[in-house]
Formats: sequence, structure tokens, C-alpha cells
Amino acid sequence: MKKLILAIESSCDDSSIAIINKDSLECLFHKKISQELSHAKFGGVVPELAARLHTVALPQILNECSGYFKSLCAVGVTTEPGLSVSLLGGVTMAKVLSLSLKIPLISVNHLIGHIYSLFLKQKPCFNMGVLLVSGGHTMLVKLDESGEIEILAQTNDDSFGESFDKVAKMLKLGYPGGVVVENLAQKASKKSLVFPVPLLHSKELAFSFSGLKNAVRVKINEKENLSEEEKSEIAFAFEEAAIAHLMDKTRKIFKLHNFKHFGVVGGASANLKLRKSLKKLCEDFGCELKLAPLELCADNALMIARAACALYERGEFVDLKNSLISPKNRNFTRI
Ligand code: KG4
Ligand code: ZN
Repeated sequence: MKKLILAIESSCDDSSIAIINKDSLECLFHKKISQELSHAKFGGVVPELAARLHTVALPQILNECSGYFKSLCAVGVTTEPGLSVSLLGGVTMAKVLSLSLKIPLISVNHLIGHIYSLFLKQKPCFNMGVLLVSGGHTMLVKLDESGEIEILAQTNDDSFGESFDKVAKMLKLGYPGGVVVENLAQKASKKSLVFPVPLLHSKELAFSFSGLKNAVRVKINEKENLSEEEKSEIAFAFEEAAIAHLMDKTRKIFKLHNFKHFGVVGGASANLKLRKSLKKLCEDFGCELKLAPLELCADNALMIARAACALYERGEFVDLKNSLISPKNRNFTRI
């Protein structure tokens, strides 16, 4: 019996393919080729370059797992949200596979994929809160008992991960900025600099990082040449304020919802200080914290394959004739 699902992720600057067994959820193949180095010199993702690199990397990875083709029962692919030109590479390949191997096509929402990074080897746990922190999104959602998604808070402007990328760019640390800013912050010995925590005195349940980013910009522009110590002090103060903001709003939401379980997902959920702060918050509220494996926080096809298994079980297949691709988050309704 054919029971393997192949999934493709190409929503931004990572080309990745995974194959899992839909019954046992065992991963048989997983590979990712990151484009980070190619985009680093431009200080961010260049869509046209990303699209071209996907068309080289995806066939290369696919070639390595072609031995599994005869056992595939479906092909899943990230169709939204993301860069249209990047999504196109994965979606085109998925359509070709579906057509030539005569297997159904499954459309996966990238953010739902991130949520499934918490449940790679197990049934999803409904009735919980999830904080999603990536380069494109920052939101806190509630999953009800049937897996329906309710957005409780989202960002009014920049995302959490994006703010790290922008601070890294201002400090000339390259792209992507998350890990470099986190590592630099850890080196700070002077910790007297303080940036204001966004929306601290506002009742609004929302996130905002653009004001903080501008405060960092003003600080950086005060001096022509910053020493390494000054840069690490700025990185530390920025990270403190950004995480304090996430924690402030998350704590307020905890008071309104009696979460028994709480998860954090997305590329920026690899941030160790954020994980530590959430652990403390969950302990205060007697809630179990769920974390994705560190190496699977960032974009990857394994989480997409896992989400595709759930959609396969429900028989949610899509028509090859549909365009499917959307830069917007259209089908973020249930996991
Ligand atoms: O989920 P992801 O791989 O891609 C999107 O779907 O956007 O997230 C990438 C984002 C980037 O903005 C990156 O700088 C950020 O996650 N990131 C981090 C850390 N590691 C990655 N942000 C803060 N701290 C980190 N350790
Ligand atoms: Zn992502």
C-alpha cells in the first residue's frame, strides 16, 4: 500500500523537501538548501534571486529522493503565505508530481505547517494557545477543541523576527539577523541601556515592533563608529525590550484564557531567551509549554509534510487547475 507523502516548502528563501509515512509519521527523507548566503550581501531576501535559486535547488533535492516515488500516495506543498515567485517553484513541482504520478495534491498553509512542528510525531493537541514568531508574522492564536484557529493578537507593523533582521542590518551584522543579534546580546557586559517596551501602557492586545526599531536606529545614529561592546549593549537592550513586549501581551492573554497547553513556533522561536521567558510564564500559570525541536523552528518541509498528513486524513485535496498561490494568509482557519 502506498502510504508516503512528499512535501515541498519554498515560501521564502529555503528550498526543502520531506517524505513521511502518513500512518507512522516516520520521516524517511528531509533535506533543505538555504539561500541565506546568497541574500546576505543584499541585506534581505531578493525575490527574483530567490525564485531562480529555488528552480535550481528543488530539482536537485527531488533527484535524491526519487527512489520513493512509487510509494507516494500524495504530494503536499506550501501554497500561502509567502513570496509569490518563491511559492511558484514549489507549487509547479508539486503539480507536475501530482499529474505524472497520478496522486492527489494537498495545499498547505505555511503558518499551519509551523504549528505542526509541535506535533511532528504525535496527534495534535487542540485547545491550546500558540505564539507564532517568524520573519513574516507575529501572532498569538487559540486552537479550540476541534482545531479551529482564533487570532487573539497580531502585529500592527513589523514582525518579531523581522525586527531582529532590521536591527542586524543597522548594526551591519548581515542577514538573517535573529541568531547574530541573539549571540551578540549574550556578549554584552554593560547592560544599562534600556529601550521602551512597545505598547506597555496600552490595553490593546496587539504587537508592534516599528517604534522599537526606530529607537534602536536613533541610538545607532548617535555615534559614527560603534565599538563591539557598544553594539552588543544595543543588541542586548533591543532583545530585552522585544521579548518583554511579547511577554507583556502574552501574559495579558494568559489572564483571559485558561490555557492548559501553550506552544511557540516559527523561526524566531529558536531564541533561547524567549523560550526561557515563556517557560517561566507557563510555570506561573500551571500550563505545559510545547516547543518544536530547535532545528525545525525555521522553515522546513518536514512540518509541511506533517500538516499534509492531517489534510490527507480529512480528504482535503485541491484541483490542479487552481492557481493556489497567495502571498496572503487566506486559509488560516483550522489545523
Ligand atoms: O519561520 P522562518 O524561518 O521564516 C518565515 O516564515 O519568516 O523565520 C525566520 C525569522 C527571521 O526573521 C530570523 O531572523 C528569525 O526568524 N530568527 C530569530 C532567531 N532565529 C531566527 N529571531 C530571533 N532570535 C533567534 N534566535
Ligand atoms: Zn516560516
